[in-house]
Amino acid sequence: MTLSFYIHIPYCIKRCGYCDFNTYTPAELGQGEIARSEISSRYMRSVQREISLAAKEFASKQMPQVATIFFGGGTPSLMDPVDIAKTIAEIDETFSLTQDCEITLEANPDTLDERNIAGFVAAGVNRISLGVQSANQKVLATLDRTHKNSNVARALELAVENGVRGRSIDLIYGTPGESLADLEESLDFALSLPIDHISAYALIVESGTRLAREVASGKIASPDDDEMADKYRIIDQRLEIAGFQWYELSNWANSLDARSRHNQIYWNGGNWWGVGPGAHSHLDGRRWWNIKNPITYMNSLDNGSTIIAGEEILSETAKSDERIMLGIRLREGIARNELSEIQEEVVVRYIASEAVDQSAWENGHLRLTLNGRLIADRIVRDLVL
Ligand SMILES: C[S@@+](CC[C@H](N)C(=O)[O-])C[C@H]1O[C@@H](n2cnc3c(N)ncnc32)[C@H](O)[C@@H]1O
Ligand code: SF4
Repeated sequence: MTLSFYIHIPYCIKRCGYCDFNTYTPAELGQGEIARSEISSRYMRSVQREISLAAKEFASKQMPQVATIFFGGGTPSLMDPVDIAKTIAEIDETFSLTQDCEITLEANPDTLDERNIAGFVAAGVNRISLGVQSANQKVLATLDRTHKNSNVARALELAVENGVRGRSIDLIYGTPGESLADLEESLDFALSLPIDHISAYALIVESGTRLAREVASGKIASPDDDEMADKYRIIDQRLEIAGFQWYELSNWANSLDARSRHNQIYWNGGNWWGVGPGAHSHLDGRRWWNIKNPITYMNSLDNGSTIIAGEEILSETAKSDERIMLGIRLREGIARNELSEIQEEVVVRYIASEAVDQSAWENGHLRLTLNGRLIADRIVRDLVL
């Protein structure tokens, strides 16, 4: 059994109006005057301490090899490549990386440039996931994004020049005011880029965000469900024609090798250690999560107190519900023999409405059709509640 590491980087230069991730601007943390390199080295020292704690957890057991590492955020590309290198080296020294370990770094187009990319690659990063969201200027403004399309193209060119093997972008669809032509513009742009993977997310209006306040005040319209479904169909069709096959509801790759191995560990119930404030971990049916605030997290590691905010042991029912919730989102779907008789009856109803692939079902698999992918949440509710 291998282990994966998720390493959370809780910093962004500016908070996008739609985002409620556990991330902070240095100003929000009262660190406005501190140099970026200082924030990076102080924070990454704490990360390395938590990795040592992880190593202790395995001291009496067999040390697993590490198959994937994912630096997510926030904005990992804000960190100093030297600190990223030390972190990867620490994991390699204590656990050892598999020969083909996938190491992903999430990046913002404004902070991946000539100065840092070679350092990330030298550190071992072999996959970049770039936040693009849209190529339309009006949509980017509604989303509060600061980058230009030219930065996206440049960042990916640099990734190619520096030999980054995996190159992915994130898109957001369904932003209020985004026309179908605007979406097509984003897809044209995306498909002109040297990438092998795309994640496309429906915009979620998260409570507490600026976007939510603007929707509540009527300044911005609420995203429309029918429009979201039309846009999902357009995205899927355009990507399939261009050779990108869906392998999870929000993810498309142009080869089996280009699929995110790290995310597949999550979706298939594997073991991962989430390092950093607010990060979640899962080891053999035990799940826990860390203190959310980065300063409290760092101070706790400094003075030896716990960084764990909560934990749970998954019951057999919870494990099986989770397998259904995650598995139904995958192209491979769920083995029919994992379902109870009552759940099979639910599936049969959805075959009648063409939401479930009949021939896959007859061959022993629950697999959603395109219609089914659009109502996956409803199908899950019917199966597990
Ligand atoms: C950590 S960010 C990616 C890297 C970098 N921070 C950036 O934004 O350029 C992860 C991704 O989550 C998605 N995301 C965040 N908030 C979202 C929301 N409210 N609705 C849909 N997608 C969201 C965006 O696509 C974003 O690129
Ligand atoms: S979308 Fe990315 S850059 Fe924007 S606030 Fe969220 S994590 Fe930061």
